[in-house]
Amino acid sequence: MRVLVCEEPGKLVYTDRPKPEATDSNVILRIRRVGICGTDLHAYEGTQPYFNYPRVLGHELAAEVVTSGSDFKVGDLVTVIPYINCQTCLACRSGKPNCCSNIKVLGVHTDGGMAEYIEVPSRLLISADGLSMDELALVEPLAIGAHGVRRAGVQKNEFVLVVGAGPIGLGTMEFARIAGGKVIALDINDQRLAFCAGKLNVDYTINALNEDVLSRLQEITNGDMPAVVIDATGNQKAINNSFQYMSHGARYVLIGLQKGEINFSHPEFHKREATLMSSRNATRGDFDHVLWAMKNKLVDPANYITHRVEFDEVAKEFHKWIDPANGVIKAMVEL
Ligand SMILES: NC(=O)c1ccc[n+]([C@@H]2O[C@H](COP(=O)([O-])OP(=O)(O)OC[C@H]3O[C@@H](n4cnc5c(N)ncnc54)[C@H](O)[C@@H]3O)[C@@H](O)[C@H]2O)c1
Ligand SMILES: [Zn+2]
Ligand SMILES: [Zn+2]
Repeated sequence: MRVLVCEEPGKLVYTDRPKPEATDSNVILRIRRVGICGTDLHAYEGTQPYFNYPRVLGHELAAEVVTSGSDFKVGDLVTVIPYINCQTCLACRSGKPNCCSNIKVLGVHTDGGMAEYIEVPSRLLISADGLSMDELALVEPLAIGAHGVRRAGVQKNEFVLVVGAGPIGLGTMEFARIAGGKVIALDINDQRLAFCAGKLNVDYTINALNEDVLSRLQEITNGDMPAVVIDATGNQKAINNSFQYMSHGARYVLIGLQKGEINFSHPEFHKREATLMSSRNATRGDFDHVLWAMKNKLVDPANYITHRVEFDEVAKEFHKWIDPANGVIKAMVEL
């Protein structure tokens, strides 16, 4: 079978590998769609920490079952929970396989879906349930935002400030809206803010580069400030800055991830009785919630897929998806 290997940063090479074989617990899937995400782009750039090469990228998948023997029939369309958890650590035993202490993410720690076929544990499959292949490949990235929103416990009519309007932030905004929150988008990129307002009907957008964020937030929330702040930038400065945007009693959820330290004023944090949380990956419940939202047309995949290529063209096109100026939200690979 044909496989696209990221041999080292900047180098994607098509090779042939033997087709995987099914076992009792694993099924073979024929890959039909692979969504490209920041993780893949950073791996290609060589800026993804803890990344080993060579690696087959791709963890946002739509696929067809080609071996039976599980609950799935040959030909069934599925998506995959790409977080292979150990099933024995405390997190796994506590219903938090998304933060398993021995987690192996497909396309990050083990070879992913940029291949004609892949083998995955059958327990990580999710049935398409009538969704299209494009929709299926978008479930995982949207589940990241859905998980963060669930962690935040967004209530109806709460102001939710989402910082960062990349693909992860956009999904976060949608699930905050679905939870009944009043969404405020903060970014430094006007093109992305225009996308929030135009495509996702986000009511309030703020550009941190040319607006006074604090006074805009006060104005929007009638002086209350947002009850929920969610970071989806992964930018250290933005993460530190956002502590001051919280209302008293607020929850601050970090979906975005950076390598450095977080700094904030203890008295400012303390007087708010604020809650700080990280949000890692997503659970099956979050995947199911995204499927439900798609089936009920609460999210439109057409908003996300800005670029589309055949598998054979990926190596040639990949570098173009790194620059946000090219308008990339989600590039979708077809097989
Ligand atoms: N929790 C998880 O499991 C999980 C999964 C996937 C991605 N992530 C993380 O989520 C983050 C976002 O991912 P993405 O793919 O959407 O990234 P992205 O780079 O496409 O988007 C980030 C956005 O943040 C904006 N931004 C940067 N600095 C800013 C600042 N100072 N103020 C306001 N906005 C700023 C950028 O303009 C951009 O639009 C990354 O840190 C990524 O590692 C987390
Ligand atoms: Zn992803
Ligand atoms: Zn575990």
